[in-house]
Formats: sequence, structure tokens, C-alpha cells
Amino acid sequence: MAKILAIESSCDETAASVISDGVLLSNIVSTQIDVHRKYGGVMPEIASRLHAENISIVIKEAMEEAKLNFEDLDAVAVTRGPGLIGALHVGLQAAKAISMLYNIPLIPVHHLAGHIYANEYVSEFKFPMLAVVVSGGNTELVLMKDHMNFEIIAETVDDAIGECYDKVARVLGLPYPGGIPIDKLAKEGQHTYDLPTPLKGVKTLNLSYSGLKTNVINLVHNLEQKGEKVNVPDMCKSFQDVAVGLVIDRTIKAVKQYQVNQVILAGGVSANSYLRSEMTKEMNKLNVELHIPPMWCCTDNAAMIAKVASRLYDLKVFAPLNLGVDPNWKIDEWNKF
Ligand code: KG4
Repeated sequence: MAKILAIESSCDETAASVISDGVLLSNIVSTQIDVHRKYGGVMPEIASRLHAENISIVIKEAMEEAKLNFEDLDAVAVTRGPGLIGALHVGLQAAKAISMLYNIPLIPVHHLAGHIYANEYVSEFKFPMLAVVVSGGNTELVLMKDHMNFEIIAETVDDAIGECYDKVARVLGLPYPGGIPIDKLAKEGQHTYDLPTPLKGVKTLNLSYSGLKTNVINLVHNLEQKGEKVNVPDMCKSFQDVAVGLVIDRTIKAVKQYQVNQVILAGGVSANSYLRSEMTKEMNKLNVELHIPPMWCCTDNAAMIAKVASRLYDLKVFAPLNLGVDPNWKIDEWNKF
């Protein structure tokens, strides 16, 4: 265990956090959501520029809140991927500069490992464990037989679930990030629109969200062409039932197939109230322990990166200064960089 500064800049949150012997000392997040909302989604170039503007301030605040000097640090950790290439580079260059200046190791952290390990702030992992990773950029079921042992047993064959929420929200005229208003409005609606279940009848644990997104877009356009008004809460409910239903279906099948002891939710979409309640109901039926991350660590932050970094420090997983980012880094290759 050690004193580590962790940096996260993979998408639209600039974040820094300090952990000391496993205890979180600070967790600063500067979100760019208000800027990207104007465009209905994250604009990569703007994200990179805002990270560049904000990163030093966020790091300074994280160090001040932790009441530490840079000289006190044992290592600096950073999200190396997956994420937006330019955005990732800003965090990496900041981390490299600190590593070089203070002559401390540089720890490369996988973003999704971070989302999974965010749960360790509130629960103890029991293996074999199934991590249901549902975020803006990724959707996958990850089997863990031990710490830092990741096997991707299923993943989306096209879009991520969060991306699908965001696109559906846009066509319905709802603000970015779309998951939040859809979650809210679905509570006021009825499942009245018929949307086909993706990959129905196909023997696979994989998921798919591109067809669902297109079905909603086509349905909305057809209704508009006929001069009919879309009932937005009903569309939200109909869409959410299918989108979340697919995750629940795959989780149930995976739990049975791999005999897991514990299921954990991870990533931004794990904030979804319907996913949380349905998953709780279904895992209770299967008698499987379910852990749901607290709201503060569902979306991107550096505390989750710090948590993984503590483990990697003990394993001496350090990177050379010519480390590059990997926008498509796979979680089962977390130690290849
Ligand atoms: O994990 P995250 O912050 O970004 C990635 O690392 O990809 O997740 C952001 C995603 C967005 O797509 C957003 O719409 C979705 O999480 N999200 C939700 C909810 N809150 C955020 N999706 C469904 N229901 C929510 N309550």
C-alpha cells in the first residue's frame, strides 16, 4: 500500500484522486456535461481541450484536499484506456510529467477495471464473481475468478447501452446524458410501443443495441410523418424495458452457466433505477449476492482508478515513460501495454 495520485480523463470528466494505504483522501471531479449537452453528445475535440484546461487545477485540488505534497507520493496512476484518444492523452501526459519530476512509478489503469473496483469501496469481492459493466462506451459481462483476473464472457456486438440511451434521448428531444431523463420519464409511462428484443432466439450471451436504437428512431420518424405525436414517457418506458431487459436476461443466463457467487454492477448505466430494482429482484430469486455501486461512483471518477492503482502498486505494475494510450484496450489485456 502506498500514497498514490490517480488521474482520469477518458471521456467528459476530468478527475483526480488521492489514496493512502487504501483510504481515499480526496476525489475531485470536474464534469464537462454542460458544454457537451449543447451538441447532444460528447464532442471529442472539445473534450480534449477542456481536459487540457482543467487537469492541473483538478490535480492541485486533489492534492490540497488530501493535505499532501507531491514529494509525499509513492506513485502516480492514470487511465490508459479505453476512451477517447485525445482525452486519454491529456491525463497520460500530466501523469508522465509528475512521474518524471518526482521520480515515482507510473501506473497504467484500465478504465473498466476502475468501474468494477469502485464497488470495493462498499463491498468485499467474492469469487467467482460476475461484473456487469454497463457504461456510455462499453457493455460487457466480465467473469472474475480472482482479483485482477478478467474474462469477457459476453459483450455488445455493436453499440454500448449508454450510447443507445443517449441517442434515443436525442431523437426524443431529451437532454444529454440521455440515461437520466429516460430513467425519470419511464416511471410516468406505459409499455405501449412494440420494440423487438435484440438477438432474440440467437444462442448467445452477447448483447446488441444498434438495432434497438434504429427501431426507436424509425418508429418516431414514422409517427411524425403520419402527424401523430410521440408519447415520450411511453416511448421511454417501452425502450427501457427492452434495453434493461436484455442486460437482465444475459446476467441470469451467465449466473447459471458460470455458477457465480456474486454479481456486481459497474459503469454509468448502473445508476439506472429500473436496472437496479430489476436486477435486485432477479438475483434474489437466484439467491445470488448482488452489489450495486453507490451513486457517487457510478459515473467516471478517479477514486475508482486509485482503487485499482493500489493493487497494481503492490503487484509492481509500472509503465515506462514511453507509455501510449489505447482507446480500445481490452480488460483481459490490462497487463499488456
Ligand atoms: O460510465 P460513464 O460515466 O461513461 C463511460 O465511461 O462510458 O457512463 C455514462 C453513461 C451515459 O451514456 C449516460 O446516459 C448513462 O451513463 N447514464 C444512465 C443513467 N445515468 C447515466 N443510463 C441510464 N439510466 C441512468 N439513470
